[in-house]
Amino acid sequence: MAEPYRIRPAHPADLPAIAAGERECFSDPWSQGSIAELFNNETVLGLVAESGGSDSRLAGYVFARAIAGEGEILNIAVLPADRGRGVGGQLLDRVLGDLDGRGVGSVFLEVRESNEAARRLYLARGFRPVGLRTDYYRKPRENALVLRRELKSTLN
Ligand SMILES: CC(C)(COP(=O)(O)OP(=O)(O)OC[C@H]1O[C@@H](n2cnc3c(N)ncnc32)[C@H](O)[C@@H]1OP(=O)(O)O)[C@@H](O)C(=O)NCCC(=O)NCCS
Repeated sequence: MAEPYRIRPAHPADLPAIAAGERECFSDPWSQGSIAELFNNETVLGLVAESGGSDSRLAGYVFARAIAGEGEILNIAVLPADRGRGVGGQLLDRVLGDLDGRGVGSVFLEVRESNEAARRLYLARGFRPVGLRTDYYRKPRENALVLRRELKSTLN
């Protein structure tokens, strides 16, 4: 049976687990200090996914920013053991709903060209390519695709 997951707002107490997740999920992880700054920024919202049961632990997280009606997905990750079970999709759906609630019309994000799993996740959620940033990433150096999706606020 699939392990149940719970999505909730991220708290500063989640910082060490999120920083460990960064190191596990990315070749060029954000530092704990950079993540801590997100918690001090009122334009940023963060969500975590926790595995259910008594040994509740971090399974994934997402951070997004909303400024002047425009949103950006800053980071999203699901720990390797929890992938392929819909957690990334749930995190993305929830954060898009929260951005919509903050009056965001368009949401942007960047993704490595080679990141098939993330690109499919975003395509399935209605994101479409709108640009390319050459050599945007390091470790390894790689182009970023810029994707955009409109939210309800502008579609109404
Ligand atoms: C991208 C990531 C967040 C997806 O999380 P996940 O929980 O495995 O995703 P889900 O199970 O919700 O899958 C949602 C959709 O993503 C796509 N997808 C997910 N994993 C995939 C894979 N390995 N290969 C191809 N497509 C994949 C599929 O379209 C899937 O829909 P489906 O189940 O109907 O086929 C996860 O792979 C991850 O953390 N990767 C490392 C960090 C990262 O790259 N973050 C994105 C930075 S831009």
